[in-house]
Amino acid sequence: MIGVFDSGFGGLTVLSALVARLPGFDYLYLGDSARAPYGGRSHEAVYQFTREAVEFLFDAGCPLVILACNTASARALRTLQQRHLPARRPDRRILGVVRPAAEALAGLPPEALPGTTAPRATGVAAVLGTAGTIASDSYRLELAKLAPRLRLVQQACPLWVPLVEAGELDGAGTEFFLRKYLDPVLAADPHPERILLACTHYPLLRPAIRRILDQAPGGAAIEILEQGRLVADRLVTWMARHPEMAARLGRGGARGYLTTDDPGWFAARAEALLGIPIAAEAVRLPAVE
Ligand code: DGL
Repeated sequence: MIGVFDSGFGGLTVLSALVARLPGFDYLYLGDSARAPYGGRSHEAVYQFTREAVEFLFDAGCPLVILACNTASARALRTLQQRHLPARRPDRRILGVVRPAAEALAGLPPEALPGTTAPRATGVAAVLGTAGTIASDSYRLELAKLAPRLRLVQQACPLWVPLVEAGELDGAGTEFFLRKYLDPVLAADPHPERILLACTHYPLLRPAIRRILDQAPGGAAIEILEQGRLVADRLVTWMARHPEMAARLGRGGARGYLTTDDPGWFAARAEALLGIPIAAEAVRLPAVE
């Protein structure tokens, strides 16, 4: 099974892209809804929560776990890969969403080999994320290596996840808070050519974001990038380079949905997002020392 972890239900936007691209694999999704949102939490809290979630998915039979959550990828992935896995789970792998999205922003095609001399993006790009993702500076650090001539505008949007969680995807109130964070991005001179929605929840706001961009002078030309497809395309390439891992993953097309909060609430959100009925199961994540 491929484990897919998110702080809540937003990561289903990534799961559905993975399933569309790699439908044959078994997937187990875990949303830590009881402790979401992660976006405003400390580095230590996000690391500890993510470690517990990843350990749970390993124990549930996932040799590979994808951190669909940007905040978890930005705050916890590196330490998990460099310390936790070698010490406790040397045969498992954890992948995040920051690096694949940064590669896409840098203009690298999914099949580009590490160290490739392919041409890199220039101009201006914007990354919109939670306070934690932006404070980690992860995108800037990745892009400084991948596309040093690309100018990056970063914008934290701390009120967007609560809007999505409340189902407020449109209307005057939502527009006010969308503009609150889009206006500074649109004020960049020159405009960004691309905006990355670097949070699992933000694709749900995409139609309203698109409308606001289209109304702004020059905004219609701005491309909006979502992570799901970018991550899925790069996972295909990663699997081809790691056949030993691909061989360990079940291929019965099974799907499982776990949440740390009310499974009825989660299933209702998930069904709206995925467009199919699902059965969600409530789990408790044991503490990891
Ligand atoms: N899943 C988180 C992310 O992609 C957003 C929600 C949260 O703040 O927990 O950053």
